[in-house]
Amino acid sequence: MKAIEITSYGAPEVLRVAARPDPVAGEGELLIRVAASGVNRPDVLQRMGHYPVPPGASDLPGLEVAGEIVSGDAKALADAGFQVGDRVCALVAGGGYAELCVAPVAQCLPVPKGWSDVEAASLPETFFTVWSNVFERGRLQKGETLLIQGGSSGIGVTAIQIAKALGATVIVTAGSDDKCEACLKLGADHAINYRTSDFVEVAKQLTGGKGVDVVLDMVAGDYVAREVECLAEDGRLVIIAVQGGVKSEINAGLVLRRRLTITGSTLRPRPVAFKGAIAKALREKVWPLLESGAVKPVIHSTYAAAGEPSGAAQAHALMESNQHIGKIVLTW
Ligand SMILES: NC(=O)c1ccc[n+]([C@@H]2O[C@H](COP(=O)([O-])OP(=O)(O)OC[C@H]3O[C@@H](n4cnc5c(N)ncnc54)[C@H](OP(=O)(O)O)[C@@H]3O)[C@@H](O)[C@H]2O)c1
Repeated sequence: MKAIEITSYGAPEVLRVAARPDPVAGEGELLIRVAASGVNRPDVLQRMGHYPVPPGASDLPGLEVAGEIVSGDAKALADAGFQVGDRVCALVAGGGYAELCVAPVAQCLPVPKGWSDVEAASLPETFFTVWSNVFERGRLQKGETLLIQGGSSGIGVTAIQIAKALGATVIVTAGSDDKCEACLKLGADHAINYRTSDFVEVAKQLTGGKGVDVVLDMVAGDYVAREVECLAEDGRLVIIAVQGGVKSEINAGLVLRRRLTITGSTLRPRPVAFKGAIAKALREKVWPLLESGAVKPVIHSTYAAAGEPSGAAQAHALMESNQHIGKIVLTW
């Protein structure tokens, strides 16, 4: 099969098309003929050498794919209600930038009715991450307020739409007025340009001084202290990335007085059973929202993976330029 290799750590050009042996599905797994592969920021970090591959995972980048089932563990397929030929999208721990990809059956979901393979490939990584962090760890409830840092990111556009569809008020931050506008169009109630306004002040004003119930943070660093300041009583801060650094000095008094919870997680190294439980919850609670059109994939651009040079390099360069709104997808 053709695949995109990280030939050495470095700039986007280290991503090159290579020939690799076809992977084979083992127990509890299926093999997908990949039509499209989603691109995520963790792929960029992996390419730069900042995100080690978990033990047992493919060294090829790519955490999500969509395409057709070509073979698999017959019992696992039957138990999950899948057949060879079905179109699925899958969360994988690596190996997504390839024409063929093995995935645990438990981490596969049907392509939601009405959406293309490109759109379906853009879903798993952000939908699993948002469900697990905002709704499970962060326990966001209907009627509560969610502050999303980086509202126009792949993660952000997913979090805005699911939180709105499930009855929360959504405030986002983004780094330009255009990005703020895009977040409002997706349903966010308020968007704060973090380069020109202080999100702590604005979030407090917008909530009548009460503060927000949940923060989804992909920045960390000095943001953590500011987020602690703008959380409401019993508020929850969920950290999913540390783009602004790993250290922060917080006012611990606020944590006690307001009974705050500070938590976080990374999805990739978690076991199949954990990811399978998220897949079940998504199928029950979120797939109907995709099928009704209440929640939509947001595709910024697509690139042909097997081109010469590979579109994967252009896709990564775009992601690093931070010009995108929503998701970037590779096609095969
Ligand atoms: N923990 C997990 O399981 C997990 C899983 C998947 C992804 N992630 C992380 O989640 C983040 C988003 O991933 P993605 O694939 O959606 O990437 P992406 O589309 O490239 O988004 C990165 C976002 O970070 C925002 N950002 C950077 N500095 C900011 C700041 N100071 N204030 C507010 N926003 C800021 C950018 O916003 P502007 O362009 O507006 O500045 C951009 O929207 C990445 O850091 C990724 O590593 C974590």
